[in-house]
Formats: sequence, structure tokens, C-alpha cells
Amino acid sequence: MNPKIKILITGGTGLIGRALCNKLMDKGYEVAVLSRRKKPDSKMHTYVWDPGKSEIDKEAIATSDFIVHLAGANISGKRWTRQRKQEIVDSRVETAKLLFNKVKRTKNRLKAFISASGSNYYGMRTSDKIFSEEDPPGNDFMGETCRKWEKSAGRFKELRIRTVILRNGAVLSAEGGALPKMNIPVKLGVAAPIGSGKQYFPWIHIDDLCDIYIKAIEDEKMKGVYNAVAPEHTTNKHFMQTLARVQEKPYWAPNAPSVGVKLALGEMAQVVLEGSRTSSEKIKSAGFSFRFPELEGALVHLVGKKENAQ
Ligand SMILES: NC(=O)c1ccc[n+]([C@@H]2O[C@H](COP(=O)([O-])OP(=O)(O)OC[C@H]3O[C@@H](n4cnc5c(N)ncnc54)[C@H](OP(=O)(O)O)[C@@H]3O)[C@@H](O)[C@H]2O)c1
Repeated sequence: MNPKIKILITGGTGLIGRALCNKLMDKGYEVAVLSRRKKPDSKMHTYVWDPGKSEIDKEAIATSDFIVHLAGANISGKRWTRQRKQEIVDSRVETAKLLFNKVKRTKNRLKAFISASGSNYYGMRTSDKIFSEEDPPGNDFMGETCRKWEKSAGRFKELRIRTVILRNGAVLSAEGGALPKMNIPVKLGVAAPIGSGKQYFPWIHIDDLCDIYIKAIEDEKMKGVYNAVAPEHTTNKHFMQTLARVQEKPYWAPNAPSVGVKLALGEMAQVVLEGSRTSSEKIKSAGFSFRFPELEGALVHLVGKKENAQ
């Protein structure tokens, strides 16, 4: 591998970005993050952008071989007010547009543009259907957000730049995201499903997700949209039971009622109360082999007893 290959990661300071940066650096790539502010304690080479003013450090674009676009206001960070929803959309769609406009005007030829999207592209609904990449977007807020995000990211094809869009499932990591939050009641000994518990919860171990991003960088045959979810289909109830079991904690509490979740979270509640099965066949057919295809192995590795970890 050429050690001078340079990868720019927008939102590289986030949960996925930090893990991906470390893996890429371990492989010998030169990595830089594109962030809204330089953090004095950061070990990463940081370029600054101000998406609101359409400004990006010119060098960031001019010197990069690949861009990985992960930036976006956290969907579960704050209640979904009208203003927050606009921020969730703009921080993904407008930033992709800004990158496109800057890349278009620079002489540097990107080798590929790789963008995150979400498995909630298919909409927050619970059904028996297994959604695959050809299925249309859902008609709720997350479905619509992902559709706009992918359309904006997909414009890089107009510049004949290889474009890959990864519809991430919920990322399982001990460092943040959904898992530590779902683990709070388990640690307190009151593990229980949320709502009906029948909703599917497409998930992926952080290591597998980073390896899919790396494959998207390295494998020139990869282009278009891929679901980035683990092969095993898991309901919320199965998830909570497994999470309790791998930590030898009790699982006995009654379901957390949907009405309370809706009151606490508002419209955002649909993200935890609904969910469908999502297919991993396409990424497997592209030659990707999951290290954590099943939930139990993933959870043992992340939060289980150390002696059982892989
Ligand atoms: N984690 C998951 O379970 C999951 C699941 C499906 C999809 N995804 C998608 O994958 C991407 C990365 O996820 P993540 O979990 O790593 O996210 P994260 O931890 O929330 O980090 C996202 C990064 O985006 C930047 N950002 C935040 N608000 C922004 C704004 N208003 N404008 C521009 N940039 C902003 C921040 O970087 P700076 O502060 O340095 O600018 C932040 O570190 C996101 O787009 C997310 O929607 C994640």
C-alpha cells in the first residue's frame, strides 16, 4: 500500500470517525479530519471548515485522495424541534453540496467519495420485510433525510468520481452511541425491552463498520449504495436479553411502555420504537466477511466478561 495516500474525514472527531482514523493510521494511511474547530488536544491533523459560511481550508481538498463524509448533527442528541430537524438535514446535505462544489473547482482528482447514510433510510417501521438497497426510502423524517443526503452525496458521480454510500446500522461501540445508553438499565439490574420489543434493531460492530469503510476506500469495484449492518436480524427484546445475559445481569422488568418513551422523546421516539430487518447480502457478495456476524459475539467482545472476549 502506498503510505502517502491521504484520506480526509469530515466529522472525523465523532464516534465512527475516531475509530476509523485509528484503523486507517494503523494501516499506514495519512489521515486528516475536517472539523468545525481545531481541538488543541487532538492528535489528528485537523483542517477547519465553516459549513454555514461555505468555507473550507483549501489545502484539505487540494491534497486529499479520498473523502469520507461522516459529518452530521447527532440524531439523538437533542429533541427534534423544527430547528433541530433542519440542522440534522443541513449538516449532512448542505455539507455534501459544499464538498462537491469545492472538489469541482479544484484540479485535484479524488479517487473516491464515500458517504455515510443510515439504515433508517427505509423508514422507521416494523414489518417482516427484509429491506435491501433497491427498496425506496421511507416517508418519515429519517427516510426523507437519508434520501436527500444520498442525493447530495451521489452528485460526485457527475464528476466521474467513484462514489460509495454506506447505510450504517446502529453502531455498537463501548465508546459511545446507542450501546452505553441501552446498557444503563441492564447495569442497574432492570433490563427490559422498549415498547413492544418486537421492533428490529439493525446494528453493526464498530470494527466491522470501520472495515467496510476501509474496503470502500480500497476496493475499486465498490460503487453505489450498500447496507452496512450485521447479518443477524435482532429485535429490541432479543437485544436487551442478550445484553443482560453476556453481563450475567437479570432480565425481568416489564416492557418500558411506548407512551412514556413518546412523551420523553417526542417524534424521535420512532427511532427506538420502530425498526425493520435490513439485508447485508450485497456487502457480503462484494466479498466482505464480518468478524461479528452475530449479536452475542459482538456484545461479549464489547461489554461481556473479558475471559470470553474474542
Ligand atoms: N453512530 C451510529 O449508530 C450511526 C448509525 C447510522 C448512521 N450514522 C451516521 O454516521 C455519521 C457518523 O456517525 P457518528 O456516530 O460518528 O456521529 P457523531 O459521533 O455524532 O459525530 C459526527 C461529527 O459530525 C460533526 N458535526 C456535528 N454537528 C454538526 C453540524 N451541525 N454541522 C457539521 N458537522 C457537524 C462533528 O464534528 P466536528 O465537531 O469536529 O465538526 C461530529 O464529531 C453520522 O452522519 C451519522 O448520522 C451513525
